[in-house]
Amino acid sequence: MSRIRVRLLKTHGDFRQCERLQQIVWGTLGVSSEVMAVTQKYGGVVLGAFVGDRLAGFIYAFLARRRDRLIHWSHMMAVAPEDRDRGLGFRMKLEHRRLALALGIKSICWTYDPLQSRNAALNVSRLGARVEEYIPDCYGHFPSRIEKGLASDRFVVNWRIALPVVGHRLKKGSPAPGSLLLPRVNETRLNAQGLLVNRKISWGVHEPRLLVEIPSNTDEIRRRSIALARRWRTQARQIFERYFSSGYRVEDFRSVGQAAELRCYYILRRDRAKR
Ligand SMILES: CC(C)(COP(=O)(O)OP(=O)(O)OC[C@H]1O[C@@H](n2cnc3c(N)ncnc32)[C@H](O)[C@@H]1OP(=O)(O)O)[C@@H](O)C(=O)NCCC(=O)NCCS
Repeated sequence: MSRIRVRLLKTHGDFRQCERLQQIVWGTLGVSSEVMAVTQKYGGVVLGAFVGDRLAGFIYAFLARRRDRLIHWSHMMAVAPEDRDRGLGFRMKLEHRRLALALGIKSICWTYDPLQSRNAALNVSRLGARVEEYIPDCYGHFPSRIEKGLASDRFVVNWRIALPVVGHRLKKGSPAPGSLLLPRVNETRLNAQGLLVNRKISWGVHEPRLLVEIPSNTDEIRRRSIALARRWRTQARQIFERYFSSGYRVEDFRSVGQAAELRCYYILRRDRAKR
């Protein structure tokens, strides 16, 4: 594989490549070259991971105000399907952090689908971003090929890039899975098609730390059974809304096992203030 370089997008050619990558990943154009160029010039960051001259991944983030602070809102990030799981996403986030800190920005926020375990692994476990909100059907009907036919529910995460705890997580890597012997909100099983389904959901568990399991292959579930994908969407929404409103928050995310055996869990922790 050629050398990977992460750098700001500069030329019209760079921005056109980014438009093409958006089409490949989402089947639609979210941000045009013109808007990317303007964002880059006036306080945002548009950067890419290049394999040789080819754009393999990008981040698009604009300057925004949230809770009275200037932040970067990272509206889009993608890696070409054939380049995933090689650390490009992580490297781009590190570069974004470096650039944002140099601009005096201390928070980078974005949304992601809570049922996308790869995103959860990167955002929560590897980067140490904190989940702050659950927004049901965040973008309404979303013309993306990733979640066609599903409501666009999202977590909002806040990556507080100047905090020592975040720097520590970046240096040390994701924590080991540990025992994960915690009470479960949802008990799961594989159905006849080998797809993960909820067998039982408990609404009244009160222990300080809890596990919520999600599928490790949401895209495959959606391709093979849209009804099951919709059920996961509804049940996950109910679980997170219910437990967040009774004082729990996402503490971390862990994956156990490999490939087809991979199992993925959010760890919820009850906030002290709300006990
Ligand atoms: C999200 C995305 C940008 C990540 O890019 P990437 O280059 O693959 O990310 P990385 O390789 O840095 O990290 C992926 C992590 O997920 C882990 N992972 C891979 N498949 C996984 C799965 N099914 N479940 C859980 N974790 C998984 C990898 O092992 C890696 O973790 P590690 O570094 O601790 O080993 C890419 O998957 C993508 O483009 N997705 C589609 C668009 C999208 O969802 N964008 C984000 C919202 S706008």
